[in-house]
Amino acid sequence: MDGDGLRQLGHRAVDLAFDHLEGRPGYRSVPPELRRLLQDAPLPEAGQPVADILERVATQVLPYPMGNASPRFFAWVNSPPAPVGVLGDLLAAAMNPACTFGDHADVYVERCAVRWLSELVGFGGGTGLLTSGGSMASLTCIAAARHRAARQDGWDVRADGLQGGHAPLSLYVSEDGHNCLRKAAELLGLGSRAVRLVPMDGEFRMDVGALAAMLAADRAAGWRPFCVAASAGTTNTGAIDPLDELVDLCAAEGLWLHVDGAYGAFAALDPEVAPRLAALGRADSLALDPHKWLQVPLECGCALVRDAELLRAAFTMVPPYLRDVEGRPGFDEYGFQQTRGFRALKLWMGLQEAGRSGCAEMVMRHRRLARHLEGLLGSAPDFEVVAPVTLSVVCFRHAPAGLDAGAVDDLQRAVASAVQAGGEAYLTSSVLGGRPVLRACILHRDTSEDDIAALVDVVRRAGRALASA
Ligand SMILES: Cc1ncc(COP(=O)(O)O)c(C=O)c1O
Repeated sequence: MDGDGLRQLGHRAVDLAFDHLEGRPGYRSVPPELRRLLQDAPLPEAGQPVADILERVATQVLPYPMGNASPRFFAWVNSPPAPVGVLGDLLAAAMNPACTFGDHADVYVERCAVRWLSELVGFGGGTGLLTSGGSMASLTCIAAARHRAARQDGWDVRADGLQGGHAPLSLYVSEDGHNCLRKAAELLGLGSRAVRLVPMDGEFRMDVGALAAMLAADRAAGWRPFCVAASAGTTNTGAIDPLDELVDLCAAEGLWLHVDGAYGAFAALDPEVAPRLAALGRADSLALDPHKWLQVPLECGCALVRDAELLRAAFTMVPPYLRDVEGRPGFDEYGFQQTRGFRALKLWMGLQEAGRSGCAEMVMRHRRLARHLEGLLGSAPDFEVVAPVTLSVVCFRHAPAGLDAGAVDDLQRAVASAVQAGGEAYLTSSVLGGRPVLRACILHRDTSEDDIAALVDVVRRAGRALASA
């Protein structure tokens, strides 16, 4: 292996990776001719030297990133990778185990990392497994909820599917609940009409009174409510649904409480937010995304379910050729995937490097920066903050004097596009209460108050340029 200089090329690859991380490049659009070259290139007939391929990566791929390495990237819910996690991915790829079952280190490392996550957010107990992300984590958890509901009603959803003429199952999600919850309902055969959208209160949280009324009305109309999928941090505003009240309501109504904590559950590490997330310790299931706030390189989600045997009952199916092995039950009995990558290594390494206090400090710093941005916008006459700042998302509108409401609406998307094209910062627009807004999410470990001030300045300049165009 060393004869062809692959080890040296490996060093070059590590240098490229760390140059990229240190350079913290922002988004750069791919020139049209390169776009064609990358997308339409034919597969070479003959193998190519690795040195040439690496050079192509250096000149054609690395210079055109999505931009989340930059501390001025404020879009969606994307962090840069922790460098230690990049090393974890390299080492995991070198080992390349099928992290499913067996008496090998990867299985134990995943069990440990999942337990650490559960302890970090105060879920505690139960079982869990790593997934590709928050969407797969919620799908896994809601499959368990569906299994329990059918079992309670005396039928077997794995054998019968949803074909047996039972009362239709309904799932309750706030209007700002992530679209993965609706996709999960579709994939699980419930259909998106079974996803009942619960109105939100003035703080963009699920309105528990409205939920109670919907449950009663739906039951009267023949539905079989089975699960509430609450948000511990919505993507749009970072709102945390009233989990205390929901946990009690679900217990009283015999419903499964799933919490989508993909973005926000790690805020449990911040004493200021922890009381609002204390009910995670009583939820039936929880979806987490260490590849968001914990800076674990993509992909790394985690499904936690309190009733381990129930999750196993929802998924276990072991073919004869996989029975006589060490280390059963394996992760394949708790989720859909059989052959699984060693995602746990980058997570396990990252959690050790940061420690509980490092994770907590990052969450608290990002929340402080979000409040700093809120303060800057709140004291400026040409901006308005349009949602409470709970986590690290700030939703706002740029409203220069002299524009009517329609023009201000149009300005938000135009400003987001102009900022993106300008390359100094990156943020996106969204819609809140039916109106376009700008949305900045702070998740980069190096974002500073200067970067926050720069964002406000960039948005203002973009607004001015659009007004004078
Ligand atoms: C609140 C929330 N839930 C779920 C998801 C989906 O997670 P993933 O993209 O990792 O599948 C996201 C992604 O941004 C999210 O913000």
